[in-house]
Amino acid sequence: MAEFTLPANSKIKQGKEWPASASGGAPQTFRIYRWTAEDDENPKIDTYTIDTSDCGPMVLDALIKIKTEIDPTLTFRRSCREGICGSCAMNIDGTNTLACTKYISDMKGDVKIYPLPHMKVVKDLVPDLNAAYAQLASIEPWMKTETAAPPDRERLQSPEDRKKLDGLYECILCFCCSTSCPSYWWNGDRYLGPAILLQAYRWIVDSRDEHTGERLDNLEDPFRLYRCHTIMNCSKTCPKGLNPAKAIAEIKKLMVERQY
Ligand code: SF4
Ligand code: SF4
Ligand code: FES
Repeated sequence: MAEFTLPANSKIKQGKEWPASASGGAPQTFRIYRWTAEDDENPKIDTYTIDTSDCGPMVLDALIKIKTEIDPTLTFRRSCREGICGSCAMNIDGTNTLACTKYISDMKGDVKIYPLPHMKVVKDLVPDLNAAYAQLASIEPWMKTETAAPPDRERLQSPEDRKKLDGLYECILCFCCSTSCPSYWWNGDRYLGPAILLQAYRWIVDSRDEHTGERLDNLEDPFRLYRCHTIMNCSKTCPKGLNPAKAIAEIKKLMVERQY
């Protein structure tokens, strides 16, 4: 029988209200999801207030300040703080985005921060990306060739062929798009989702790759590709301004074209 209520141990509870790190200045409150497998407790929301006049401008700066000055157990991923590595992806005020490129000043009221939705959580704001990376490996994201490379130089592309990679190579695999996609929420075990399909298209459309047919065969499946219903959440949320829904549509078009 269908169950319409959440299991008791998944209900989010009110957590700790931490004392403000400093008084005065420009106080801003952050309400942050906390969960760890190290105890038997439900997830909870902890509340932190910091002086943002004494902090860098981005949400990631605030998280680092909270971790440094208030609560060293707060756990999140980050590396480049330049919008390049994709590791600080999280849900900020209801939108999947990068904490390092999101201005605190763009937020209204308390800032609510959760991990990327519909992923298993490792701890606090850290999603478990193992399944997503296994899906990435399944599309073989590297150049596959049969002919030998020229002995004296790299494989060349015309400027027109190189242009076809624009809007694709910039993907940083942050998974903001896949975790905003309802089809991926419900069928993430079988549907590849927009991030991986954009990566797949990046290699399908690369003029130097010689395994295009095999790559399309690998996607010709009611779940791996065709669970995309053009809802467009993916393209709306991509913090790099990319359009994974268009890449998926292009793959579907190639599937049709190769029938004739
Ligand atoms: S367009 Fe496709 S991939 Fe993008 S959110 Fe909608 S269903 Fe998901
Ligand atoms: S398409 Fe955009 S949102 Fe999706 S993984 Fe790449 S950079 Fe992130
Ligand atoms: S820290 Fe690298 S994208 Fe945010």
